Amino acid sequence: MSTSTFLFQSFETFNMKNIQYKALVVEEKVGDFLPNIQTLNTENLPAGEILIRVEYTSINYKDALSATGNKGITRNYPHTPGIDAAGTVEISESELFHTGDEVIVTGYDLGMNTAGGFGQYIRVPAEWVIKLPLGLSLKESMIIGTAGFTAGISVLRLTELVKPEDGKIIVSGATGGVGSVALALLTKLGYHTVAITGKETEYDFLKSLGSSEIIPREEFLLPDKRPMLSAQYAGAIDTVGGPVLENILKTLKPLGAVTTCGSVSSTKLNTTVFPFILRGITLIGISAQNYPSVFRKNLWNKLAKEWKPDNLLELYTEIKLDQVTDYIHLILDGKLKGRTIVKMNE
Ligand SMILES: NC(=O)c1ccc[n+]([C@@H]2O[C@H](COP(=O)([O-])OP(=O)(O)OC[C@H]3O[C@@H](n4cnc5c(N)ncnc54)[C@H](OP(=O)(O)O)[C@@H]3O)[C@@H](O)[C@H]2O)c1
Repeated sequence: MSTSTFLFQSFETFNMKNIQYKALVVEEKVGDFLPNIQTLNTENLPAGEILIRVEYTSINYKDALSATGNKGITRNYPHTPGIDAAGTVEISESELFHTGDEVIVTGYDLGMNTAGGFGQYIRVPAEWVIKLPLGLSLKESMIIGTAGFTAGISVLRLTELVKPEDGKIIVSGATGGVGSVALALLTKLGYHTVAITGKETEYDFLKSLGSSEIIPREEFLLPDKRPMLSAQYAGAIDTVGGPVLENILKTLKPLGAVTTCGSVSSTKLNTTVFPFILRGITLIGISAQNYPSVFRKNLWNKLAKEWKPDNLLELYTEIKLDQVTDYIHLILDGKLKGRTIVKMNE
């Protein structure tokens, strides 16, 4: 056998290595979307250069939408959700990665219409994969996950316009995944933060993240038809949309800025142009899914080093794959606190 034939054969055998694994699969049955844990085989994963053994994934709001049949997120079922994954490269057909590399995949199409991190293996294009930055463990990377990364983009964009000395930053959905990491990051960067929350039992948690003031959500939502209210906040990170964001816009100080990433309250925004044209405020849209690759690597490096929250290990709950369905319902009900990670392999 010539050397080239041998190399070709071993390459084929290598890539055809089929591995059985467990995954949470959501099946569509007469309009119902039923999650259950199944044993699958890596030969059925989509094409892609990198096969990854997933060590940790995390629960994000989008996963809950995918797992409950939101066709705006996932068109076809059966499907394995999970927009986050951290693990080790099992097989690489890209010169950028090698077997055993520790890597992260967040965003792109993972868990949407590509089998996601709620499976013990994923196969994805090399361009979706980034090497685990020095300073983070696989577990820590998933405590951050898409929600924390979105908090990172939001804080990054906000810091371009608002400095700690400009005044208070208000954060909505404060006990949620994006909100809690945003509070931790802002505190680390020296900002004075105010949390809006619907959970009166979690004030100690919010204080531990650095919030010096807490406003109950109902109080913040007291109806007031005026187009602008007393200017109080230099900046804001909104994760919920709807009336909360409407009131944030009304209460920003001149030249203030607010980031918007989420819609757990509403996708609607009923506002006027007055805060924009009279106070010169800025509304910044945040999209983590297709955040450009070069910025993505830079931000992950920041989150692993100078921005790494001191209290990262107080921010999470760890669960197993067979608990994911319960947590999907909790996040849809707005009841999760901080970040939830899933240990995928024992
Ligand atoms: N644009 C992007 O790239 C991007 C990326 C990641 C996430 N997101 C979106 O950001 C949002 C937050 O994600 P997450 O992971 O932080 O979700 P989460 O963990 O469920 O947090 C959302 C928080 O919002 C608050 N909340 C719940 N229901 C509410 C309601 N009806 N009205 C007002 N506040 C409510 C709750 O916090 P309190 O009880 O403390 O108020 C809840 O914990 C979601 O819409 C998600 O899809 C967008």
